[in-house]
Amino acid sequence: MKNIAIFASGSGTNAENITRYFINNKDIKVALVLSNNKNVGVHARVNALGVPSFTFSREEFLSGEPILSKLAAYEIDFIVLAGFMNKISEPILKAFPHKIINIHPALLPKYGGKGMFGMHVHEAVVGAGEDESGITIHYVNEQYDEGQIIFQASCPVLQSDTPDDVAAKVHKLEYAHFPQVIEKLLAE
Ligand code: GAR
Repeated sequence: MKNIAIFASGSGTNAENITRYFINNKDIKVALVLSNNKNVGVHARVNALGVPSFTFSREEFLSGEPILSKLAAYEIDFIVLAGFMNKISEPILKAFPHKIINIHPALLPKYGGKGMFGMHVHEAVVGAGEDESGITIHYVNEQYDEGQIIFQASCPVLQSDTPDDVAAKVHKLEYAHFPQVIEKLLAE
């Protein structure tokens, strides 16, 4: 059995989608969800599916404890950042070399880096008059959005699209591809 921990900061629709995807899988399961915010939707979404969730403080995130102990207690093999809005901290990165992936809601290397998260990304894409956007799934390293790219998928952006329209198209791509990419990586 491979156990996944998901880090999420907000609504958690990706966390829910990934959890549901693996719910009857004998080899892979979402064992734990961690968040930097206790007042966000991800907790209720995954708790309803039987997955425990924990909230950590900024200090705990930076020092790595008790997060690393929790990850060990749940025998976590792989970490997925799904709508996690902080740069991963060094102790966690060091403990999971090449075992942390992130999804970014744009076609990196465009529209990545500090401050580029959630709706800010879609606003920038529309503001720049891009005719496409998409998703990038990549390994996590010390820099924001700069780790090795694993997978990308794109969608058209129409002149009439608002940032909300682009967000909806990007979410669709995320739901369609993210669980499968995780499954493939864990089978390797
Ligand atoms: C997703 O679109 C994800 O790609 C993005 O936040 C959204 C979270 O939605 N992540 C980032 O911007 C990370 N830099 P969700 O909470 O409904 O899954």
